Amino acid sequence: MSCVNITKMSWPQFKERESIYHIFCKHFSNTSFVAVRQGEVLGFLLGFISQVKAGHGYIHLVATDPKNQRQGIATALYEKFFRTTKKKGVRHVSLIVNPDNVASLRFHERLGFRPNLRGALIAVAGVEAVKDYNGPGNHMVPFTKEI
Ligand SMILES: CC(C)(COP(=O)(O)OP(=O)(O)OC[C@H]1O[C@@H](n2cnc3c(N)ncnc32)[C@H](O)[C@@H]1OP(=O)(O)O)[C@@H](O)C(=O)NCCC(=O)NCCS
Repeated sequence: MSCVNITKMSWPQFKERESIYHIFCKHFSNTSFVAVRQGEVLGFLLGFISQVKAGHGYIHLVATDPKNQRQGIATALYEKFFRTTKKKGVRHVSLIVNPDNVASLRFHERLGFRPNLRGALIAVAGVEAVKDYNGPGNHMVPFTKEI
């Protein structure tokens, strides 16, 4: 399965131009990873090191094929990102999560990410998020972790 199809199947609501896969594979291939078993793509992580904030890494998207979830695949991809970027001086990793994405919230909490809530806040389904973070009505939970 391709990375595009894994995203479509694991997270049908996700909307983004498919050019992101080309951008990350061409220009951030040293901080983006694909998990493959016996030739089958199981999951992937798209991340980068900030060009302007020294020591900061950012994870843009992670997804695991639905039939291979809860096997530690996304955890392994994150560990690879941490190991790789730490060697390049990264100490802080950040990302954002939709407040209604319970699997992603639990996954990131389990990995030691903590919400970094600043500015106007709003509760979405009992989860505190930054109001309008991604534009009007598009509230998000920013997370950070020190590595
Ligand atoms: C979030 C996601 C990437 C996790 O991938 P995964 O490979 O299944 O994750 P792991 O197996 O490494 O999970 C590690 C831990 O995270 C937590 N976790 C993961 N998925 C969870 C879920 N659906 N519900 C509750 N906790 C969950 C658990 O603590 C899990 O450990 P356990 O299985 O021993 O209990 C996956 O659910 C996915 O692809 N979701 C759709 C895409 C998406 O939402 N991406 C994130 C965008 S911000």
